[in-house]
Amino acid sequence: MDNRETVRPVSVCRVCGGNDWQDVVDFGDVPLANGFLSPADSYENERRYPLGVLSCRACRLMSLTHVVDPEVLYRDYAYTTPDSEMITQHMRHITALCRTRFELPPDSLVVELGSNTGRQLMAFREAGMRTLGVDPARNLTDVARRNGIETFPDFFSHDVARTIRRDHGQARLVLGRHVFAHIDDVSDIAAGVRELLSPDGVFAIEVPYVLDLLEKVAFDTIYHEHLSYFTMRSFVTLFARHGLRVLDVERFGVHGGSVLVFVGHEDGPWPERPSVPELLRVERQRGLYDDATYRTFAQRIERVRTELPELLRSLVAQGKRIVGYGAPAKGNTILTVCGLGLKELEYCTDTTELKQGRVLPGTHIPVHAPEHAKEHIPDYYLLLAWNYATEILDKETAFRDNGGRFIVPIPRPSILTSPSGS
Ligand code: TYD
Ligand code: ZN
Repeated sequence: MDNRETVRPVSVCRVCGGNDWQDVVDFGDVPLANGFLSPADSYENERRYPLGVLSCRACRLMSLTHVVDPEVLYRDYAYTTPDSEMITQHMRHITALCRTRFELPPDSLVVELGSNTGRQLMAFREAGMRTLGVDPARNLTDVARRNGIETFPDFFSHDVARTIRRDHGQARLVLGRHVFAHIDDVSDIAAGVRELLSPDGVFAIEVPYVLDLLEKVAFDTIYHEHLSYFTMRSFVTLFARHGLRVLDVERFGVHGGSVLVFVGHEDGPWPERPSVPELLRVERQRGLYDDATYRTFAQRIERVRTELPELLRSLVAQGKRIVGYGAPAKGNTILTVCGLGLKELEYCTDTTELKQGRVLPGTHIPVHAPEHAKEHIPDYYLLLAWNYATEILDKETAFRDNGGRFIVPIPRPSILTSPSGS
C-alpha cells in the first residue's frame, strides 16, 4: 500500500527551526496505536507507518521521525476520556488551579482545544464560566453536545481562532490538555492562541513530561499521535518566537508524569514565577540537554524489549494464562515494539465500549469488557494501563487475593508480589 501521501519525514524542528538532530530510537514500521479493527476487517490492508524519535540539539524537543496526516489519525477517534476517579479529581484540580492562580472572574470565556467529550469544560461551566470546545472528532463532538458543551468541530488553527474571536470574543483561558504534543504546526497554534487570548488571558497546556518519560522508560507513550515530547527549554523557545511568555509550570504524577505550563502575552500583567527557571535548572542537572541521556534511554528500551517477551514466554511455557489489563494506545506500542501477540496474550480487557468487540492494531488481540475475565480468568494481567496502577490494583483486590498477579512492563518488566495490601 502506498503511504506517501499520508506520511512525511520530519526535517526541521517544529519548535526552533533547527535541524541538528540526535537519533534516539527507531522502531521500524508500526500500525497506528488507536487503529482498532473489527474482527471482520481484512488485516492485510492494515497500514504501518515509520515510528522513531529524534532529539533537537538546539531546543531539546524530542520529535517523532515522521508525521502521519491528522485526517487519518483523528476523524474517527477511539479514545474517549476514561471514566476514572483519578481523572475526575485531576480535572477539578486543574479548574481550581487556573481559576485561583490567574483570577478568572465568573462568566470568563474558556476555550479548550481537543475538548473530547467535554468533561474538563463541564467543570469550568459548573464554576460559572462560559465554555467552548474545539475538537475535530465528529463522534466525540456529538457526545460533548449532548453533555451541553458547545463544540467547534474542527482542528484548532489560526483561522479557527479568528472565527472564535469574532463570534464569541476573546478568551480569558485557553486550555490544551494532552493535545499540544499531537500538533505538527505548533507555530500556527501559538499564533492563533495569541490572537484569541485577552490581554490578561492565559494559555494552559498539559503534556506528558519528557523528563518523566525518560526516567520511567515510558517509551510506550511514543506513538504516531505524539509528535512532540517537550522539555521546558523547548516551551520557552517556542513561545518567545510568538510574542508569548512562559509564566509558570506545575508537575503532576498522572498519566505517568505531566507538566501544566502556563503561558501569557509577553507584555501581559502576569510575572514569570520561580518555577520556570527552577525547572530549567532541573533539566540541565538531569542531563536533558546531553546526548548521553538519550543514549541511556535507548539502551533501557532495548532491555525491556528483551526482558518482557522472555518473561511472558516463560510464563506461557508454564501453562499460565496472560491477559492485557486495558487496551490503551500505549499498550499497542509495547506489544508491537516488543514483538508480542496472541501467543502471549489471550485477550485484553478494557472499559471503553468503543474498543470492546474489536481487535488491537498490529497484534489483532481481541478486546473484551472486563466482565469477560470473570469467565476466562487469567493467572496474570499485563498492566498495559500502568498509569492507572493505584486505582486498578485497588479495584482488583479479589483477583490478587485469589492468587492472580500483575506484571508491570516498565521501567523494567516485573511481577508485583501479592497479597493485595503489599
Ligand atoms: P489511557 O492511559 O487514558 O490512554 P492512552 O490510550 O493514551 O494510552 O488509557 C487507559 C485505557 O485503559 C483506556 O482504554 C481505559 C482502560 N482502563 C480500563 O480498562 N480499566 C480501568 O480500570 C482503567 C482505569 C482504564
Ligand atoms: Zn528545536
